[in-house]
Amino acid sequence: MNQRPRRNRKSEIIRQMVQETHISAANLIFPLFIVDGVNQKTEVASMPGLYRYSIDNLLREIESCLKLGLYSFDLFPNVNEELKDKYATESYREETLYLRAIREVKANFPEACVVTDVAMDPYSIDGHDGIVENGQILNDETLEVLGKMALAHAQCGADIIAPSDMMDGRVGYIRKVLDDNGFTNVSIMSYTAKYASAFYGPFRDALNSAPKFGDKKTYQMNPANQQEALIEARLDETEGADFLMVKPALAYLDVIKLLKDNTQLPVAAYNVSGEYAMLKAAVRNGWLNEQRAVTEVLMGIRRAGASAILTYHAKEVLENKWL
Ligand code: PBG
Repeated sequence: MNQRPRRNRKSEIIRQMVQETHISAANLIFPLFIVDGVNQKTEVASMPGLYRYSIDNLLREIESCLKLGLYSFDLFPNVNEELKDKYATESYREETLYLRAIREVKANFPEACVVTDVAMDPYSIDGHDGIVENGQILNDETLEVLGKMALAHAQCGADIIAPSDMMDGRVGYIRKVLDDNGFTNVSIMSYTAKYASAFYGPFRDALNSAPKFGDKKTYQMNPANQQEALIEARLDETEGADFLMVKPALAYLDVIKLLKDNTQLPVAAYNVSGEYAMLKAAVRNGWLNEQRAVTEVLMGIRRAGASAILTYHAKEVLENKWL
């Protein structure tokens, strides 16, 4: 045998020498759930080890992440039911929880990179990402709401705006609103290929944001489709996105790779709540080795081509020095 690939696996030193993919803290974005009140920290039942924080505790959590070298955060609000309406007006009210949280985080930790989620669902009485009329999701009317939200986030100091709603034309619309208001330096991380997935269940529990009727299949993508992701990618690029995101990650590694091969923009991937829950449940049952399973998952997403990984594992991998 001329070629014996095992020679390059024979020791830890050589294995590390030829390792093709690496992950560092800089690749990770940590999603955090926030809730109104003071001194709140309640665990999300389906996401063991993750909590909804009131702003005071959110600041403590972020401080401990910064000490670990974890600098990027994506914030999501749990909104009281009585504040929800058909038009998500709570989302851009000046003193709303979410905007206060962004301001507080940036005031206390200007070095933190704050990613903000633009979508109506946490504030919508219908639990949908767009305005609902006669059972239909209205696309162009929704853009106006998304523009107001994005502008409010930018005014509070958001570094990256991440529209997760899947309305057509929203990246271009938001880009224009930001630019017209002088926020040319605020980035857009578009949820480019966001699939209508079963794996968002625990997240909707965390935020109490599940749709009150129907599903999200008229705006989120069909899990069977790959080529359609290229249409979304082309649109987001021409509309001015700075990052293209694929979501979920694990059942869509081919889509991450496809976008990576077809764009010069950085690709992001969202390792979603259900993927986290599934792994943690198996670990709790003693069926998987936690460190090995978590690092293998993140490595696979990175190997597929993701520069940025939004993952609920972000803090634990650094805390436990698993990378
Ligand atoms: C909502 C939104 C969702 C997630 C991020 N933003 C859920 C949904 O579309 O229903 C899911 C994240 C996760 O499951 O971890 N716009």
